[in-house]
This record gives sequence, structure tokens and C-alpha cells, in this order.
Amino acid sequence: MIIDNGYVNTLIGKDIDIVGEIIRMKKEKNAVIIGHYYQRDDIQAISDYVGDSLALAQFAAKTDADIIVSCGVNFMAETAKILSPSKKVLVPDANAGCSLADSCNAKDLKRLKDENPGHIVISYANTTADVKALTDVVVTSSNACGIVESFPEDQPIIFVPDKNLGSYINRLTGRNMKLWNGSCFVHENFSVEKLVELKNKYPEAEVLAHPECKSEILELADNVGSTKALLDYSVKSDCGQFIVVTEPSILYEMKKSCPNKKFIPAVSSTNCGECHYMRMNTLEKVYNCLKHENPEVVIEDELCEKAVKPINRMLEISKNIGLIK
Ligand code: 13P
Ligand code: SF4
Repeated sequence: MIIDNGYVNTLIGKDIDIVGEIIRMKKEKNAVIIGHYYQRDDIQAISDYVGDSLALAQFAAKTDADIIVSCGVNFMAETAKILSPSKKVLVPDANAGCSLADSCNAKDLKRLKDENPGHIVISYANTTADVKALTDVVVTSSNACGIVESFPEDQPIIFVPDKNLGSYINRLTGRNMKLWNGSCFVHENFSVEKLVELKNKYPEAEVLAHPECKSEILELADNVGSTKALLDYSVKSDCGQFIVVTEPSILYEMKKSCPNKKFIPAVSSTNCGECHYMRMNTLEKVYNCLKHENPEVVIEDELCEKAVKPINRMLEISKNIGLIK
């Protein structure tokens, strides 16, 4: 749960140096700012650490800061709080939700579990703390296939909530996980037709796609992976042009890492391809949240204790299979 006392949009005087003040308050309060690759450029630029969901969770587990300002969406801030319950976790805007996390509630998941005895539940990190508390192991797009494969082939599995990521894992691992019917409104709507047009226009370009995309898109991709994996691939590849089928804010880091390469954002059939939840966060809101120490993530101890187990199991298995150190 996020407690918001309403300072989010407090007006800031024109004479205030927002970036300078953020840096000053960070030092004064022993705070760190963690930012996802889908954050606006200016937020990525002032973040102490920028990463994908898995890396942000790892960072939150290890930091010795007193305050973590989580610039991403709410499930990322909740994960930080679950892993660091003694720390104050703040978010710039309490309304930064996620269509995947919203698609799966604990009551319906409990019913599905009861109807399917013997199944374990594997949840994508894009879920609420309540759903994580009903989960055996959490995964992110960085480690999902490896973690699923760490279970015996005949282990029945319920996978929530992303049906696109779930069917991608099923195809890759040969498993037959029972899938929840959730999806990300951003990735679900990338247009196959427009992608084919872009491929024809840039025949040399490689296609990079996030596994939250539909299978028709993934079939056209040269590389499928988490935000970090796509970024790493673009750095290592000999190719000089990429069509990027994920939230376009990642282009900031891609262009920074490879200034001589060309990155072409894919086109959505319904919107601009942007995640409006991720873009709710602004520098002004980061300033206000550090100043007023609000909105704050609050999770009851009992829920935290239940939800931390499947996250720790994810970190443990990821270490065992060599995905993280
Ligand atoms: P990553 O784990 O790849 O960073 O993805 C998070 C996300 O929300 C993608 O839409
Ligand atoms: Fe959620 Fe999709 Fe936004 Fe990622 S891009 S935070 S999955 S709504």
C-alpha cells in the first residue's frame, strides 16, 4: 500500500535548482534514487542506479541508504520495501500502477490455486505484494526461463499474470504452464504490420523485443529479452541499426551506450508505445517526494514476511544457475 499525504504536485518556485536540491537532499537524508530504464531521460540521468526489475530488486536488497526513492512503478517500489523493510521507500507518484499487476488479484489467484492442487505458483515480478504472498517463486524477464527450468519437467505450474511472457516461456522450455490471462497494454499493442513496414524500410536492422510482446512480434525478433538483456545485446551486436519493440524510454540508455548506432522505436497500433504509468514520475515529483518524504510504501510485517520468501527464492535460484552473483 502507498500512503500519500498529497504533496505530489506541490508547486516549486521558479528560482529553485531542482536537480541541485535533489542532490543536496539525497546527501542530507542518506537517500538513493533507483530508476528503471523506462523512466524519463532526466530521471535516469539523476538516478544513482538504473536497471531492469531484477537489478533494481538486487540493489534494494543490498543498499545501506536510509531512504530509497523508487522511480519506476508501484510493484518495483513494493519489491524494494519487501526486501528492505527497515528502510523508508518513497515513490514520486502513488498512481504509477501497471496493467499487468492490476490484472491479477489475490482472491482470484487463491481460487485458482485451490482448484489446481499440486501446482506451484510462479509469478512475474509485475504483481502486488498480496499476489507475491501466494507465490512459490517470483521471476523477472531476466531469469524466467532459467527458473522455470530449475523445476522438474513434470512439476505442474501456474504462471501469473502475463500470458505473453508465459507462452514465450512455454515455447522455449517445452513446459505447459497454466497461464493467467493478463497482459501489458504497452507491449500487447505493438503492431505486427508496422513492424514489417519498419523491417522493409530498414532491412539491415535487427529487431529487439521484450517478451511481454505477442508471439507474432517475438517471431520477427532477432533478440528477445528483458530491458537489460536488450540493452546488452545492442552493445555487443555488430549490427549498427535496431528496431526496438519495447517502451521507447530505453532508447536513452541505448543511445548513451552506443552513440554511433541507430535505434528506431517500434510503432503501436493504439497508442504511442509509451507506458503512461512510468511517465507519471517527473523531476518535480522526485523533488517533492524527497522533501516531504511522501508518498511512502507501507506493507504490514506479516505480508512482508510472506512476500519476501518467493523473492528471496528467485534471487537464490538465479545465483545457483549463474544468472547473478
Ligand atoms: P524488465 O524486468 O525487463 O525491466 O521489465 C519490466 C517491465 O515492466 C517491462 O514492461
Ligand atoms: Fe506494467 Fe507494461 Fe508499464 Fe511495464 S510497460 S510497467 S508491464 S504497464
